[in-house]
Amino acid sequence: MVKHLISISDLTRDEILDIIELAERLKDERSRGVFRDYLKNRSLAMVFELPSTRTRVSFEVAMTEMGGHALYLGWNDLPLGRGETIADTARVLSRYVSAIMARVRSHETVAELARHSDVPVINGLSNLEHPCQTLADLLTIKEKKGGFDIKLAWVGDGNNVCNSMILASAILGFEMLVATPKGFEPSESILKWALERGARVELTNDPLAAVSGADVIYTDVWTSMGQEAEREERLKAFRPFQVNARLVEGAKDDVIVMHCLPAHRGEEITDDVIDGSHSVVFDQAENRLHAQKAVLLRLIS
Ligand code: CP
Ligand code: NVA
Repeated sequence: MVKHLISISDLTRDEILDIIELAERLKDERSRGVFRDYLKNRSLAMVFELPSTRTRVSFEVAMTEMGGHALYLGWNDLPLGRGETIADTARVLSRYVSAIMARVRSHETVAELARHSDVPVINGLSNLEHPCQTLADLLTIKEKKGGFDIKLAWVGDGNNVCNSMILASAILGFEMLVATPKGFEPSESILKWALERGARVELTNDPLAAVSGADVIYTDVWTSMGQEAEREERLKAFRPFQVNARLVEGAKDDVIVMHCLPAHRGEEITDDVIDGSHSVVFDQAENRLHAQKAVLLRLIS
C-alpha cells in the first residue's frame, strides 16, 4: 500500500519520532558537509496552486541534496488549470515520478490526488492542514526544549497550521491552549479527532490566559491564503491577539516564540518579538529542509 502524508494524523507517534530522529541525523550530516545520494534518479513533482517560498525551496533543495530532482509545476501551467481532472493528473504523474507534493486551496484536492496516485502524495499545505510545517516545528521544539513535555499556547487564528499542531498534540500528548477570537476556532472535525484520543487541548478567547506558564507561543498570519476578502474584518477581530512583548512576558521566562512564516510584521507579531531572543522562527524555516528530507526518505522506498 502506498503511504501518503495528507494529514499529520496519517503518522503514528512512532513514525513521527522516527522522522524527527532521521531529520536530526540528516541535519548533522549536512552540517559536516556530508551529502549522500539517497534518492539518486528519483524525481518529485511539486504542484502549486498557491505561492510559496519555504515549501518550494526546501523540497527542491532536499531532492537536489539527496541526488534526486524536483519539478515545479504551477497549477495554471498544467492542463489542470483548463479542466484535466485531478485523478488523471495523479495517474499520469505516478508514471514519471517517485512522489508528488501538492499545495492546494482545498484539502479535498490533495486527498483526491492521493486516492488516484500510485506514488506517495505529500500535503504541502491545504486550507485544513500543513503537516510538513508541523514536522519541522516538532523538530525545532525537540531541539530547543529537549522533548515534548511542554505546554504550547497557540495565539491567533485557528487555521491550517493550528489544526495540524492540535493533531500532533493528541498524538504526542503535549498540552495545547488555543486562544482565538470567537468564530475563528480550529476545525471541529480536527478537535473531535484529537479529543477522542485524549488530547489535552483547551480553547479560550483570552490570549493572556493561554500563554500563562507556556513553554512555546505559536502564532501565524490572521489572513491565510484564499481569505484575502476577509482581511479588514479579520484585522479588527484579531487585534487583541497580537504576539508582542507584553504577551511574551506572561509566559515562562525561557518561552520560545514560533511562527511558520511568512509573517505580517506589526499585525500578528511585532518586530521586537520576531527578531528578539525568544524567537526561533528562522530555525523553524531551516528545519523544513531537514524534516522533509526525512519524510521523502521514509515515503519513497
Ligand atoms: N511556512 C510555509 O509553508 O511557507 P511558504 O508559504 O513560503 O511555503
Ligand atoms: N496559515 C497560512 C500559512 C502559510 C504558510 C496560510 O495558509 O496562508
